[in-house]
Amino acid sequence: MRSSASTPTWWPGSVGYEVYVRSFADSDGDGLGDLEGVRSHLDYLQWLGIDVVWLTPFFPSPDFDHGYDVSDYRGVDPRMGDLAGFARLVDEIHRRRMRVIIDVVPNHSSSRHPFFVQARADRTSPYRDWYLWSDPSVDGGPPNNWVSHFGGPAWSLDADSGQYYCHLFHREQPDLNWRNRDVRRYFVETITYWCERGVDGFRVDVAHGLLKDPGLRDNPARPATGTRRSAFEDFVHRFDLDQDDTPVLYGTWAEAAARYDACLLGEVGASGPDRIARYTKGGGLHSAFFLESTGQEWQPAELLARFRAMHTAEPDRMSWVLDNHDQPRSSTRFGGGAGGARRSLALMTLLFGLGGVPFLYQGQELGLEDGAVDPADRQDPIAHHNPTSLGRDGSRTAMPWSPGPGNGFSTGLPWLRAADRTPDETVSSQQADPGAEVHRYRSLIAARKSYPDLWRASATWLDGPSPEFAMLRRGSVLVAVNLADHEQAALLPPGPWQVVYESGAPDLVDTVHNAQLAIPDATGVILVRS
Ligand code: GLC
Repeated sequence: MRSSASTPTWWPGSVGYEVYVRSFADSDGDGLGDLEGVRSHLDYLQWLGIDVVWLTPFFPSPDFDHGYDVSDYRGVDPRMGDLAGFARLVDEIHRRRMRVIIDVVPNHSSSRHPFFVQARADRTSPYRDWYLWSDPSVDGGPPNNWVSHFGGPAWSLDADSGQYYCHLFHREQPDLNWRNRDVRRYFVETITYWCERGVDGFRVDVAHGLLKDPGLRDNPARPATGTRRSAFEDFVHRFDLDQDDTPVLYGTWAEAAARYDACLLGEVGASGPDRIARYTKGGGLHSAFFLESTGQEWQPAELLARFRAMHTAEPDRMSWVLDNHDQPRSSTRFGGGAGGARRSLALMTLLFGLGGVPFLYQGQELGLEDGAVDPADRQDPIAHHNPTSLGRDGSRTAMPWSPGPGNGFSTGLPWLRAADRTPDETVSSQQADPGAEVHRYRSLIAARKSYPDLWRASATWLDGPSPEFAMLRRGSVLVAVNLADHEQAALLPPGPWQVVYESGAPDLVDTVHNAQLAIPDATGVILVRS
């Protein structure tokens, strides 16, 4: 195997923040967030202490999957700005000593992308082979049993040519053929194009999906578990996702990125720590999101075990998240109300003590639960395809900047309508209240800067009193997290130790008696050897 891609100089020790652009801030009143809206709120991100801003897609798109169906990989959607505005935004991010990474969506294009339009119109076009086509099976149906993430078969018939094309997501998102050399070259040129425009890196969408089994074999059925949420879960995705040779694809990307000291961060949905770590060890990615916990509800022992197993397999390169634009917010998943937010921050405290980079999702720092979207206003294609699913809209509602109608997101009707947030959920109210959630997140971010051992010293997991308790020693710091619903005490290694961060109300952890530390329910603590 090739050696791992060398990490960009600025990446270690960073704290990331996902800006879901279309719901962050709308500067022109059309109800859709835009690049100028992001630019006008950079002071807030700087105040929080963010180092890396991830901008979700702002490229031209017919919006069947809200920007993840790209019809021009090198442009800016006119509703969100233009290339000059993008240049201004990048400049201002850099002026604040922050970095910017953008999405690249290589698994599929939009069906309206000129490449697919030509591929579909003409079987002899060179673009035909840029996509995955197959003749029908003997009964005239799809060539195999693959299902789309969004519901229904992963194949749609192109009536004119009589062939099916593959789409792991929406039928308007045809999958590209990564065994075609010109596709591979096009994307290396695309990331170079954006690096030339000052971008510091990329979040690689569906990074584990690019190659498919060349024989297009059927996926094996998965034994029923009783917790089935979609047809997608009925199969082991052996032949449509995470092929053995997929991580190696990124070698040429890494060579291009290295010329700009740029970072490649994959959305890697492979199954289990060892298969995920292939993308950063020997594969060309510098980092990979660990996503197993983003959909998970409150099962503290299991959550802790998953993070520990992943960190043990890949201690320095993962990117850690609880929340993103694809899952219900952790405050909601973890029980809602103040209790849900408290649990989420306690677990986040552990993530800030792991090697790699922790990412917040916009509004997580406010302790937000999912927004309330009326069923008639749902926008997500998943909800449209699966009447029993709520889809992903709940975590995608507008960022609440200030109290009052519209919460300062837009002067127009938001693209995704939702109930207004209460005043104490908004940025301006929380900034003015020293006891508010946003200040606890800000202190956690500051602790990562003040005590770099949190991410760079070698890590040792220590035994706690129960599986709902995790303790990690890194050089001069100790991170201890009690996720039980009652106080737990742990025996500390030789100290003395001083508490420098506590996720719950300050001073709940009073003293560190006789090397015993009692931590209240759902609380994370950072200690420094004094
Ligand atoms: C990724 C994105 C998600 C999108 C999908 C298809 O999982 O995060 O929002 O729907 O890819 O592009």
